[in-house]
Amino acid sequence: MLEIIKYPRLILRTKVKKVKNILNAEVQKFIGELIKTMVAADGLGLAANQVDKNLRMLAINHKDGPKVFINPVIYWKSWKKNEAEEGCLSFPGVYGLVWRSKKIRLFYRDGQNRLRHLAADELLARVLQHETDHLNGVLFIDKATKYTRGENQVKDWQNQATNENI
Ligand code: CO
Repeated sequence: MLEIIKYPRLILRTKVKKVKNILNAEVQKFIGELIKTMVAADGLGLAANQVDKNLRMLAINHKDGPKVFINPVIYWKSWKKNEAEEGCLSFPGVYGLVWRSKKIRLFYRDGQNRLRHLAADELLARVLQHETDHLNGVLFIDKATKYTRGENQVKDWQNQATNENI
């Protein structure tokens, strides 16, 4: 099992790099580890930089089973949005309300290096937006309009990060 990186570690603020050789044995091994770690943590999704890996890859706990999305590009988002509560494995105990597009369309590569297209809505669209944000170093606390749980925890982490920089 891989260690899940908690905020405010810097890798969570890093825009991670495209995966070049998906069929490479190490990359294949990592795909399996990322999925296993997400399932064991009971997460809806997990981005590679949340396990300290600088790769554009994320796993989703899809209703048909866990699924990996490599080099995902969301090229369309619906104008219509809805607000719902989100949490994140890198922010234990923290939940907040976030507005997301209701529908998205994306291209990505699967674990066999095949180019895929997906139109997603509802919860899957939300989770994919949350996880692709991670790959750009964007976190749900940047977008939360209101915390529903754990706001003080976020403030403590932010103070801690500021003190370390001084
Ligand atoms: Co997250």
